[in-house]
Amino acid sequence: MKKFKLTVLLLGVSFFTYSQNSEIKSSVKNVEQKVDSVLSMMTLEEKVGQMIQYNGSWDLTGPASGGDNKQKEERLKKGLVGSMLNVLSVEAVEKAQRLNMENSRLKIPLMFGYDVIHGYKTIFPVPLGETASWDLEAMEESARIAALESVAEGVNWTFSPMIDISRDARWGRIMEGSGEDPYLTSKVAVAKVNGYQGNDLSDPKTIAATAKHFAGYGLAEGGKDYNAVNIGQNELHNVVLPPFQAAAEAGVATFMNAFNTIDNIPATGSESLQRETLKKDWNWNGFIVSDWGSITEMIPHGFARDKVHAAEIAVKAGSDMDMEGGAYEAGLEKLVEEGQVDEKLIDDAVRRILRVKFKMGLFDDPYRYSNSKLKNQVPYDEHRQKAREIARKSIVLLKNENDILPVANSVKKIAVIGPLADDKDTPIGNWRAQGEKNSAVSVLEGLKNAVGASTEITYAKGVTLGQGERSFLFPLDINETDRSGIPDAVEKASDAEMVIMVLGEDAFQSGEGRSQANIGLAGLQMELLKEVHKVNQNIALVLINGRPLEITWAAENLPAIVEAWQLGTESGNAIADVLLGKYNPSAKLPVSFPRAVGQEPLYYNHKNTGRPYSPEHVTFSHYTDIENGPLYPFGFGLSYTTFEYAKPELSASEFNANGSVTLRVAVTNTGDVAGKEIVQFYLRDMVASAARPVKELKGFELLEIKPGETKSAEFTIDRETLKFYTAEGKWETEEGEFELMVGPNSEDLQRINLKYSK
Ligand code: NOJ
Repeated sequence: MKKFKLTVLLLGVSFFTYSQNSEIKSSVKNVEQKVDSVLSMMTLEEKVGQMIQYNGSWDLTGPASGGDNKQKEERLKKGLVGSMLNVLSVEAVEKAQRLNMENSRLKIPLMFGYDVIHGYKTIFPVPLGETASWDLEAMEESARIAALESVAEGVNWTFSPMIDISRDARWGRIMEGSGEDPYLTSKVAVAKVNGYQGNDLSDPKTIAATAKHFAGYGLAEGGKDYNAVNIGQNELHNVVLPPFQAAAEAGVATFMNAFNTIDNIPATGSESLQRETLKKDWNWNGFIVSDWGSITEMIPHGFARDKVHAAEIAVKAGSDMDMEGGAYEAGLEKLVEEGQVDEKLIDDAVRRILRVKFKMGLFDDPYRYSNSKLKNQVPYDEHRQKAREIARKSIVLLKNENDILPVANSVKKIAVIGPLADDKDTPIGNWRAQGEKNSAVSVLEGLKNAVGASTEITYAKGVTLGQGERSFLFPLDINETDRSGIPDAVEKASDAEMVIMVLGEDAFQSGEGRSQANIGLAGLQMELLKEVHKVNQNIALVLINGRPLEITWAAENLPAIVEAWQLGTESGNAIADVLLGKYNPSAKLPVSFPRAVGQEPLYYNHKNTGRPYSPEHVTFSHYTDIENGPLYPFGFGLSYTTFEYAKPELSASEFNANGSVTLRVAVTNTGDVAGKEIVQFYLRDMVASAARPVKELKGFELLEIKPGETKSAEFTIDRETLKFYTAEGKWETEEGEFELMVGPNSEDLQRINLKYSK
């Protein structure tokens, strides 16, 4: 026993010398031993300190967010803080780290977190838009770039990817995730974790990632942010949790819990979610950070009496770190001392936090991410180029009657009209990290950069969308009255051969706290569109937005619609690439577009119900005042070429537990230009112990096909493919009939039957 203690002490002391001795480097093999050794030296106060995260306000980054900053600084000096968020710049990070390292007893390095959601300085498409590319390599690459730009500024931990399944366009945060499908979102989750974290967390060019928000946050009732989530265990496991499990298996360093309740239990206080499912069943060994104040928010939820009670619930449930909530600071030590909380729970949380810090290499060099030299090594120009490539891959062509796009060479006068046409800020989107205000290429600029001298471009704003200050903190004041620019727009439109109309949402219309009861084109945009349409019908509508919009009138009356999301820094150039045919659009919607807001939540993978579609009766599941189904379905997107699908072939019509079958479909490019087709494979379990969706995505393949060429997509189906969370609460494959579907989107599908027996 004595000998053990001595070794532990020696090991412990050697960490804090930061010697170059390879023996004490953070090799994975030794991590557990090192964690235990540090833990054994910590007082209860120091352990609780590791479980506290502070917002980096006071003189570190600018204006204070409130609270007693002097006291915060004192705690930092005593080593009673585990991590900080929003400390921005190498200098600020170094300063905070020094306060901690040079004054605290044990010198345990801090982590520095930030919301790097779709880029740090170089801004990529908002996640919903980027997911439309279905290009996992590209998405991994944009995360890798964001990581590099983050570490160059001292940030070593991002609160991303957000992998909440969201089916409701009213929810402002739908822009932050990958849409409505668990399979696609799971793939994106893995790509993002790999991009941020690389192969080795201690590589100073990588950052720790966070899978958030665990769990259910995207299914807020009525699409209203922070609202209750009312789903049962079966839906939770089949729909919400798969992307989180995928992220856990990919080795994501941290999880963030969520503000919402699920079936009336706050996610932050849910032992079943955090301790049982994530930590025990999935055997995941990272740590869970709370969402901002979500531990303390259990008080207004009516779940905790006060901060101390909230701390007790949260720590027992498995929340390891309190983000700026003050609950752990107020309560944890006392709770342990009074015997209300077993110190073993604290040890478990601290062990998890230390483990991540060791893996990040922070014990080897706490300043490894505050190295100003790195800044000069960041190839920002190259990153812009990548941002343009990914942006154009994310643009969805929704309608293109009479092939009015790409703009023909014969068109010599184009009017570019709309409040977002020359807006250099909106494409940066919400959650823009250090993406500078007004730093995007606007559509007008992009087009001017790209058209030849013989094409004239005129511009009119028409109407302003939002007035006053735009900010993360306040709702946008929409212009409902100023029509003074409409006559100029109408005149320019009537004078041009073609109109490119750029409408949509302001950057701060979507994002946190931005739920909307209406999802049409806000303010006077429809009025402008209709006025312009009276004088020129040759309109290509370009939409810049963070959520699916209600665009039924446009879909019925305009010849062309391009969904361009908020595409980031290179937005206008990417849009011009598509409008002018330098890039053949290939993206497909990761989310359904409604005919009317009243259809929300709207998603393709719904249940059949006992009264499915029947045109002969009224008593079936539908709305009587609109056509059934979405305006544009999940997986939909057009190209400048056409693809023809051959009849799919299945290698066998039956298989059993040890076998597999292959579904193959040949796709021919029947048009005149090369294009990329995203071939989608869906499946339906016809009869099961719990009702299954009418279809669910189970595979996709991106095929680059030249004119006249044929390529095949192939999908292997084995028992894993058929697994689901059964009525018995287990991930299993049940025997029976399945319907396989393959095609270009979730509605246009060819079907084949398959039988599975054990
Ligand atoms: C609250 C948001 O819900 C979360 O996603 C974000 O990471 C934190 N604030 C920190 O900014």
